[in-house]
Amino acid sequence: MAGDGDLNTPESGTGSSATDWARFLASWARHPIKMGAVAPSSRAYCNMMVRHATTELDGPILELGPGLGVVTRALLDHGIAPERITSIEYDPDFARMLRQRFPRVNVIQGDGFDLDKTLGPRRAEKFAAILFAIPIANLGQAERQALFRDYFSRLLPGGNVTQLSYLLKPPVEAVPGVFSVSASPRVWRNIPPARVWIYSQDRAGQTGAVDS
Ligand SMILES: C[S@@+](CC[C@H](N)C(=O)[O-])C[C@H]1O[C@@H](n2cnc3c(N)ncnc32)[C@H](O)[C@@H]1O
Repeated sequence: MAGDGDLNTPESGTGSSATDWARFLASWARHPIKMGAVAPSSRAYCNMMVRHATTELDGPILELGPGLGVVTRALLDHGIAPERITSIEYDPDFARMLRQRFPRVNVIQGDGFDLDKTLGPRRAEKFAAILFAIPIANLGQAERQALFRDYFSRLLPGGNVTQLSYLLKPPVEAVPGVFSVSASPRVWRNIPPARVWIYSQDRAGQTGAVDS
C-alpha cells in the first residue's frame, strides 16, 4: 500500500496499478477541462485533505470529483464507514470503476455542479463535510462563490468544504457572513506541490492566513 509520503506516481493513488494512471491520463486527453490534472493526487495530498475535512461530525460525507478514488480510499483508511460517503463523479467509466472498487460507497454518476438534480430525492440532506476536487478554472469568481454558497447551504453546523487545487491563492474568495478560507501547509510530496483549501462557516467572512 502507498505510504503517506508517496508521490502521485502510477504506484500511488489507490495503490492499485499503473493502469489507473493511464486511465487518468487518457481521460485528461479526452476532457482536459473536466479533468484538470494529468495524474491522481498523491496519498500525502489526499491525507492532508481528509485531515482538514470535518469528518469527526456525525453525518454523511459528500465527495465531488472522486476520479478513480484516491480521496475515497484516504477517507476509508481514516476510519470513515463507506456507507457515510456519497461520491459524485461525472465520467461514467470512472463512476463504474468506483462502484466496483468501493461497493459500499454510494457512487452517483452525475454533475457535482447541480446537486439538486444529481442528489434527487436526497437533495435536502445535510452533510458533515464536502470534499471538492472538480476543476473550476473555467468558472468566473462570482460563479465559484455562488457554487460554494450552494454547498454551504448543504452543510451541518460546523461542517466545512475542503478543496484540492494547485492555485497559489484561494480559488474561491471568502463570502462575508457565509464562509472564510484558509490553507493547509503545502504538500511537497505531490506533483505539483499544492495546498488544501479549507472553507469554514463564518460570520465575519475573513480570509484566513495562508501558510507557507
Ligand atoms: C482533478 S480530477 C480529481 C480526481 C481525484 N479526486 C484526485 O484528487 O486525484 C477531477 C475529477 O472531477 C471529475 N469531474 C469533472 N467535472 C465534474 C462534475 N461537474 N461533476 C462531478 N465530477 C466532475 C472528473 O471526471 C475527474 O474525475
